[in-house]
Amino acid sequence: MTVQIDHALEEIRRFRPSPEFAANAVADTSLAEAAEADRLGFWADQSRELLTWSKPFTKTLDWSNPPFAKWFEDGELNVAVNCLDRHVEAGNGDRVALHWVGEPGDTRDITYAELTDEVKRAANVLTELGVGSGDRVAIYLPMIPEAVVSMLAVARIGAIHSVVFGGFSADSLASRIDDAEASLVITADGGYRKGKVFPLKPVVDEAITKSVAGSVRNVLVVRRGENEVAWNDHDLWWHDTVGTASNEHEAAGFEAEHPLFILYTSGTTGKPKGILHTSGGYLTQAAFTHRNVFDLHPETDVYWCTADVGWITGHSYVVYGPLANGATQVLYEGTPDTPHPGRWWEIIEQYKVSILYTAPTAIRSFMKLGRQIPHEFNLRSLRLLGSVGEPINPEAWIWYRHVIGGGSIPVVDTWWQTETGAIMISALPGITDLKPGSAQVAIPGISIDILSDDGTSVEGEGGGLLVVTEPWPSMLRGIWGDPERFKETYWEKFGDKYFAGDGARRDADGDIWLLGRVDDVMNVSGHRLSTAEIESSLVAHPWTAEAAVVGAADETTGQAVVAFVILKASQAERVTDVQAASDELRKHVATQIGAIARPRQVFIVNELPKTRSGKIMRRLLRDLAEGRDIGDTTTLADTSIMQTISDQVK
Ligand code: WT7
Repeated sequence: MTVQIDHALEEIRRFRPSPEFAANAVADTSLAEAAEADRLGFWADQSRELLTWSKPFTKTLDWSNPPFAKWFEDGELNVAVNCLDRHVEAGNGDRVALHWVGEPGDTRDITYAELTDEVKRAANVLTELGVGSGDRVAIYLPMIPEAVVSMLAVARIGAIHSVVFGGFSADSLASRIDDAEASLVITADGGYRKGKVFPLKPVVDEAITKSVAGSVRNVLVVRRGENEVAWNDHDLWWHDTVGTASNEHEAAGFEAEHPLFILYTSGTTGKPKGILHTSGGYLTQAAFTHRNVFDLHPETDVYWCTADVGWITGHSYVVYGPLANGATQVLYEGTPDTPHPGRWWEIIEQYKVSILYTAPTAIRSFMKLGRQIPHEFNLRSLRLLGSVGEPINPEAWIWYRHVIGGGSIPVVDTWWQTETGAIMISALPGITDLKPGSAQVAIPGISIDILSDDGTSVEGEGGGLLVVTEPWPSMLRGIWGDPERFKETYWEKFGDKYFAGDGARRDADGDIWLLGRVDDVMNVSGHRLSTAEIESSLVAHPWTAEAAVVGAADETTGQAVVAFVILKASQAERVTDVQAASDELRKHVATQIGAIARPRQVFIVNELPKTRSGKIMRRLLRDLAEGRDIGDTTTLADTSIMQTISDQVK
């Protein structure tokens, strides 16, 4: 595992917070001082201040059995009550929780009182369907209010949700249903994407047919697409059940370490990992970071995080953080360019969005389209911009701040992961001088370090591997059903320090620069994909003998999937049209895993570069895919092979 730091940037631009912003900022320097003086005391104070505990905790952290942490162990709370009922009880029931915008242009404004009511109804239905505390519910929905309602209803009764992104295939959904042994699936007839209805229910039907666990008892179906769907005995319409259920529901408190959700993410092997998060610590850090990193003033701000609830960003910064803080937010169903390329800017103008949180890949695609599109809209309501998912190039940062933000508002680049549950590294707006391209500093209460491969801390300026040195409230509590993999993946390398899988560099000012993954995980448009998973999918195709996948630099998506495939000898003769074969394999991956995994290119080759011990040298294939000179080939079993492959690719 080596970290390349040669492309680290010399960034000399600095942006001071404006005095006006600093004067009203939520965060202040006392946070860092308090965390430094007493880290655990700081988190305990934050948790008491930000959340409502039905039974107060007396213990903050139990780390006696690392890597299994327990935060606020003896306390009890209901996560949904924290996101809903308590705001209504505090007199904020009429505040809009969700300004929902459907892609075709239909809209719904939902207040905290209405959302609470709907969640209570849904909770009653789940209970009637036999879903109880600790049971797993798979959620496969578009970005509609029912997705938020479903997650909170599951949380309210102490069940565990596993949200599966609507772009995943039937196979991917089936393996997630099976791994968690979900007893209920919540889905919709369809959802809108790029002006068309994409069907979800048939994918669920197929997944249940393919499921080997046979755990699913019912499927709850929201009507959204108004498209025809096949109907099974175990299917129920949402409007027939939730629509008619009682809105009275007494919520119980659950222990702080009660599981809240499982979310699958790609690792270095073919099998996705079910990342497990629990209640009290997770909600504490989600709420703390949402409030302080986004400078949330819940009475006046309109917040919009563009992530889908199928990803961790949607969990922590669409559902749990913002709702725990009583924020008003926009929820948008569709794609940024439907029906016109200014759709996002139109929504910002219309709802006077003040805080926008999105991904560098989106910013780069808007940059390509040009500034005249956002300039047609009034974006002056914006006062803070956030970025997440991959490093943001300084030029994209500057464009974001100037063209979208009008030139003087803070841009915060937030580093974190599905596993960390909430933001770990970010500037604090109003306090930190901003530096384009760097995620900058650990948030108060979080301990980050950079280590050399041998585990020694890199002092001062220098590069290495990013670790978290102390347990944090929203840390993953494990991998569902696989404690060994949890230990191996994150804790074996550096003992009691959490190994994140990212390379990083500290500059002379102490700011942290993220340099990308050091393992076989790719980052395509801010989404994690594993090379092994895509290789397995390619090899599952009857034509394929062998496959190697690399993440190659891509101007818009950050990285793109590029595959090199050797066809079986029996097929090689029959496949005469190389282009058609490559298209077929690209389509195959999209069907097997989901459209996000579709390779940008599949090259049909006769050989793959291997070491004498038979290990594929992906580094050389990446050089080729990125159009660079091929690096050192001396360790190859056959040193002429890269020339052959490169001739074939051309
Ligand atoms: C990986 C985690 C956190 C929500 C979205 C992705 C990369 C994430 C940044 C950033 C540089 C970043 C890392 C990390 N990453 N944010 N601000 N700067 N890299 O969550 O799918 O779990 O992926 O995304 O490589 O390990 P995820």
